[in-house]
Amino acid sequence: MFRLAGIDIGNDSVKLVVNETSEPIIIPNIVSPGYERHILQEEDAPLKALDVMVYSPSLKKKGQRYFVGQLASEDQDNAELEETDNKATSDQSLIVALTALAYASITNAANTLQPGQTIDQAEYVIGTGLPVRAYARYHQIFEERLVGEHEVTFLSTPKLRGRTIRINIRRAIISIEGAAALFHMATHENLQVRDEELYYGCIGICEMGALTTDFPVVKRMSIDNQFSTGEQLGLASYLDSIIRDVEDQFGYRFASRTKLIQRIRKQEFIIQRVGEGQADIRPIVQNYFGRAAQKIVDLIRKRWKKYPDIQCFYVLGGGAAALKPYILDVAENMRLRFVDNSELQNVYGYLKLAKNKTSQAEMI
Ligand SMILES: Nc1ncnc2c1ncn2[C@@H]1O[C@H](COP(=O)(O)OP(=O)(O)OP(=O)(O)O)[C@@H](O)[C@H]1O
Ligand SMILES: [Mg+2]
Repeated sequence: MFRLAGIDIGNDSVKLVVNETSEPIIIPNIVSPGYERHILQEEDAPLKALDVMVYSPSLKKKGQRYFVGQLASEDQDNAELEETDNKATSDQSLIVALTALAYASITNAANTLQPGQTIDQAEYVIGTGLPVRAYARYHQIFEERLVGEHEVTFLSTPKLRGRTIRINIRRAIISIEGAAALFHMATHENLQVRDEELYYGCIGICEMGALTTDFPVVKRMSIDNQFSTGEQLGLASYLDSIIRDVEDQFGYRFASRTKLIQRIRKQEFIIQRVGEGQADIRPIVQNYFGRAAQKIVDLIRKRWKKYPDIQCFYVLGGGAAALKPYILDVAENMRLRFVDNSELQNVYGYLKLAKNKTSQAEMI
């Protein structure tokens, strides 16, 4: 008996869906070294204070303590991923992914502790993915790192204190970022065709994440080997530039990209300066988002010219959500398509692709 899960191990955030019934779990991909915290008031939800010890044969450092996600985003010593990191081999990404699976195992499961049992057990078959350009070289390594037994213990996390979860990943089905998103958009939950144009057509995708942007071309649901490509470029470098300019101009430092994007998403552009009143960061954001949008539109135009058979182009990923108005502004007469919740299309696609490869009879 195992659970089926889709997990998008993003450089910005790890997104997890277990059976399509539950809400996606989203954890910023950010960690910091863990320590005994002085807790004045306990957080009201486990996700606000993930404090874990992780044992995994795939990690270089085993049994270390980490603050993960939101708790780490406030920490001065936190680490967010850089362009040189590879999600297939990154220990940080695996730590956040295992924490997400452990959290999901306790919170939306019926089969946790049996009488006499002290450790929660959870078995998974997971669907996940890699960028177009990393896939060929790394999918096997990625799969080997994920499959097997791992263990996560929650320390000072509210409601989960002291719980240990043994996670057994029986299989990991690795697909390609962006292409999985298209599979999700083209099919129903029962995997029947939902949209014939997408399923049988020749479709271009631009999926902009934090550190990579993928441009798969998918024809009748098969990836085109020759024309699919990717760029080592995402929204994160623009966010880093915004953080740097805001610091230079106003002496105000965002502790992490996560903190900055939270503000941008809420359209809260006014920052409080030390003793000096307030400042508006909107012009800085607009400047960099405008540049990012121009870059993306140029790349799409180039790809479309190279391969005019492409019937339509979807712009997806968190980058699409962040840049949509700016992209529409510079796209001129090139018609581009957007969807709601574009940062979640991959993870739903991974779940469906895992389901597709797994016989229904074995599932819970
Ligand atoms: N709804 C949204 N509105 C605005 N910005 C968003 C939204 N969702 C995500 N973002 C931002 O867009 C960027 C890309 O997010 P996304 O979740 O696609 O990245 P990722 O999948 O974690 O990264 P990668 O694909 O490089 O591994 C991030 O900086 C994120 O903060
Ligand atoms: Mg992504």
